[in-house]
Amino acid sequence: MATLLQTPRPGADADPAAPARTLRVRRHRRGDSAEGWDRYTAPVGPRTTVLDALTWVRAHLDASLNLRHSCLHASCGTCGMRVNGRDVLACVTRLEDLPPGEVSVEPLRNQPLVSDLVVDIESLYESLDGVRLPLVRTSEGAPGSTPAEGVGHLTRFEDCVECGLCVSACPIVASDPEYAGPAVLGAAWRLVAEPRDRDPEPAYALVDGEQGAWRCHLAFECNEVCPTDALPAEEIARLRGILLRHRVVRWLQRHARPEEVQP
Ligand code: SF4
Ligand code: FES
Repeated sequence: MATLLQTPRPGADADPAAPARTLRVRRHRRGDSAEGWDRYTAPVGPRTTVLDALTWVRAHLDASLNLRHSCLHASCGTCGMRVNGRDVLACVTRLEDLPPGEVSVEPLRNQPLVSDLVVDIESLYESLDGVRLPLVRTSEGAPGSTPAEGVGHLTRFEDCVECGLCVSACPIVASDPEYAGPAVLGAAWRLVAEPRDRDPEPAYALVDGEQGAWRCHLAFECNEVCPTDALPAEEIARLRGILLRHRVVRWLQRHARPEEVQP
């Protein structure tokens, strides 16, 4: 799990004379039976993001408010939260783009709550490990070179920043926690579509079952919230096509004469 925010981000302070917005923030600590909402009013400028306002709140009003971020530019995927009921990256969600009035801020859904706006997305990372892709194609490496230690674990689903917004938005994950979920299925599509010298069979086994690609109802909520256009719903649809072909090939391999099998 990424580190909780410990200190306010330098430069996040806004001009006290600037217009203000009120944030209604969901508060809950793991282990506490009580949960509720706190209201904070923060000064805002024309480019103030939800994350800017929240870090201002932490710096000036309530240091106990827990949230998480790292890169501040939609790359690390750690600042996901629900703003006005929509799953977003807080670092690129500007308050001026939201309707006037109070702004509600909640943690992502369908993932264990750690505290306030922080959820534990370790299970997503672990599931993605099951279909991880190498960052560097063995076939494209410079002669005699080897990727730096650990690099092979970094890229799993190209364009996916592993933010978990799609997991939060998915209605199937909400009703069936065993469902593999859009990010993992998208990553599996990437692997089976282009194995890059990897054995795709573990990915087939992971996603060609009741809790895999066939469980998806193609609600497209994941596509709607994905901040990187990784478009997991489209990849799930493509994955189904590949799975069908894989099933047919395997059936033919079991039942047809070898010369009739087309790979
Ligand atoms: S598919 Fe999109 S929404 Fe889902 S984890 Fe990846 S970047 Fe986030
Ligand atoms: S802080 Fe990295 S994606 Fe928002």
